[in-house]
Amino acid sequence: MAMIHPHMPFPPVLHDDGAMTTVVTHPPQSLDGAWLMTVSLPPALTLTPRGGQFVLARCGAQSEFERTEHWPTALRTPLYVVSSRTAAVIAGVESIWPEWELAIPVHGYDHNQWVRELTVGARLNLLGPLGQGFVVQSQARNLLLLADAARLPMLFAIMEQMLDQGGRVTLVLRADTLGADLRSRLPIPVELRLATTDHGFAQQLPDTMRWADQVAAALPNDAYAMLVEPIRAARFRLEPGFAHASVEADLACGVGACLACAVSLPDGSRTRACVHGPVFDLATLLRR
Ligand code: FES
Repeated sequence: MAMIHPHMPFPPVLHDDGAMTTVVTHPPQSLDGAWLMTVSLPPALTLTPRGGQFVLARCGAQSEFERTEHWPTALRTPLYVVSSRTAAVIAGVESIWPEWELAIPVHGYDHNQWVRELTVGARLNLLGPLGQGFVVQSQARNLLLLADAARLPMLFAIMEQMLDQGGRVTLVLRADTLGADLRSRLPIPVELRLATTDHGFAQQLPDTMRWADQVAAALPNDAYAMLVEPIRAARFRLEPGFAHASVEADLACGVGACLACAVSLPDGSRTRACVHGPVFDLATLLRR
């Protein structure tokens, strides 16, 4: 019989407005440029999110600095789905709740002081999952992952999915070094190619693009343009369905209402990352 987790005196709750109160079961830990944490969800929640989808967390202003200087804390903060499971065994005690692992990539100054202060048992109000995530293509067997260390957690789910289906995974990682914690998160069958410079990263692309039949990328937005030529060289053109990329945008409302997340497309039109992304087909984002 399922038991109550000793660190969870307040169970997760699904609210009438669609938001949910979740409970932190693994407090935030830094993983080579990202904060990762695990939350328990209401048992009534049967959704299985995809890696790269996001939730919006109500964080509030936790410090005097945030209250006076950092107005975005008035908004919800996007956390990206890393992995999910329908039930969990924690410290030998069976939990009746599903769990999601969530990540906040950190670029430059870390504004997420509130994340560091979350402890086991803390409650977190979330909306989601929202947007589009990474999906393994039905015919794909050779998955190429392109990422830097801060954004890599968004690719953990598709990495596991491809390995579970018997496919092969190569990861080209742009990072100055590879931390032991991040290395331990990579399954042994994953072929890792560490690129310590931008030039070294670009040099890995031609060979790996020829090998791949699907690409998933989590890089800075301005890095995606450099993928087009290696793709054309390997496959003649950038075909829809071959490569998908997570795009950074201001995810404010999460439901397509505020246009804060507008992303420009090659034909001059704009699309909303919170609804049609943040994971987009690269053939939609870039000229083929
Ligand atoms: S975040 Fe408001 S429209 Fe996308």
